[in-house]
Amino acid sequence: MDLSGKNILLGITGGIAAYKTPILVRLLRQADAEVQVVLTRGAREFITPTTLQAVSGRPVRDDLWDEEAEAAMGHIELARWADLVVVAPATAHFMATLAQGLAPDLLSTLCLATEAQTVVAPAMNQAMWRSPATQRNVDILARDGRLLVGPAEGEQACGDTGPGRMVEPEDLFEVIRQCFAARCLDGLSVLVTAGPTEEAIDPVRHITNRSSGKQGYAMAAAAAAAGAEVTLVSGPCILPPPPGVDVIGVTSAQDMYDAVHARIAAQDLFIGVAAVADFRPAQSTGQKIKKESVGTRFEMAFEENPDIIASVALLPERPLVIGFAAETQKVLEHAREKRRRKGLDAIVVNDVSRQGIGFNSDSNAATLIWADGELALPYQSKQSLAQGLIRHIADIFTARLAGAGQESRAS
Ligand code: PMT
Repeated sequence: MDLSGKNILLGITGGIAAYKTPILVRLLRQADAEVQVVLTRGAREFITPTTLQAVSGRPVRDDLWDEEAEAAMGHIELARWADLVVVAPATAHFMATLAQGLAPDLLSTLCLATEAQTVVAPAMNQAMWRSPATQRNVDILARDGRLLVGPAEGEQACGDTGPGRMVEPEDLFEVIRQCFAARCLDGLSVLVTAGPTEEAIDPVRHITNRSSGKQGYAMAAAAAAAGAEVTLVSGPCILPPPPGVDVIGVTSAQDMYDAVHARIAAQDLFIGVAAVADFRPAQSTGQKIKKESVGTRFEMAFEENPDIIASVALLPERPLVIGFAAETQKVLEHAREKRRRKGLDAIVVNDVSRQGIGFNSDSNAATLIWADGELALPYQSKQSLAQGLIRHIADIFTARLAGAGQESRAS
């Protein structure tokens, strides 16, 4: 896609990955985009304005108080000029500034003043990325509608290995191109399930699991940001509703089944992220079970819950059906078998035996498996993983539509 007529404001903050940014500017210029580079004070320690001026063809801006530059195009005018703002690399400090809505310098002021979409490509040491403070800021930025891309995992300039490398300029360029393509789920209806279910034993006790709902809520938010009308059927979670998403709260697997089937006819896509209890106590008593009445050993019979996603996949007019799988061994093998057994179009598998991913973590890593391929998505925040998954799920949806079109022309 050609980017002629598109104005891209590239903010560079102070990280070693700044050395990669001239490649990104060159790719954007080759696609005919106009690029205005804005440097923070820290960025100047890693890359010179002269290099960036040479590749972008425009004087670099770095000062909120530069009278001459402000006279040519004031910062508010510059914020309005941008069709897209890209911050790459984005340091932990800059992400914190952005999350708090502070405006101590030109770049943060522009990010606050612009109405354009902002793409943020984090780059930092792996421990800084994993720190609860950074993960809180990631969460805020995603909820504010900023598009987080990466970070990638691998060897770092400081000698550590782990998540925190800026994504490669070529990959960032691809994301920028997609930002100007039509939003990938525009006009579609998506139903997402999230969180755990609770299966009652008696009025005060239940059986549940460790799902926090974070991954499912992130999927719902990413689908809404991609233009879909999203309904989220959520088990008991303490998360705020994602912006623009209709949230239906449920408790048990049977409640979730009923809520999904009451709405499924209108859906184009169904994404089952919930960790649904496979079994429930065969008898739930109306009164609290007294310890004295049980003795020293308590045995309980269970009966099977309905398989919600498999029942959706069996519908004659079914939406595109995407499942999730939490596995601890033979991860890909079990997920491939689960996809086939449940009749799913695709499945997203996460290895929950790995530390720091899966249940109740802020980050995740997963493999998307569909009929024609598999794609591994590296360790990253649940929000950025969800954004990547939604882009690939939209491609699977488009391919299915194209296939259905060909079939109906042939018949
Ligand atoms: O919520 P978080 O803390 O963020 O954690 C995210 C997660 C680990 C829960 C999520 O990434 C995940 O893996 N979700 C699937 C959990 C799971 O255990 O799946 P499963 O293997 O039991 O089920 C496979 C698929 O069938 C899932 O899409 C599930 O929603 C669906 N299912 C399962 C049982 C059932 N009775 N009905 C269903 O619809």
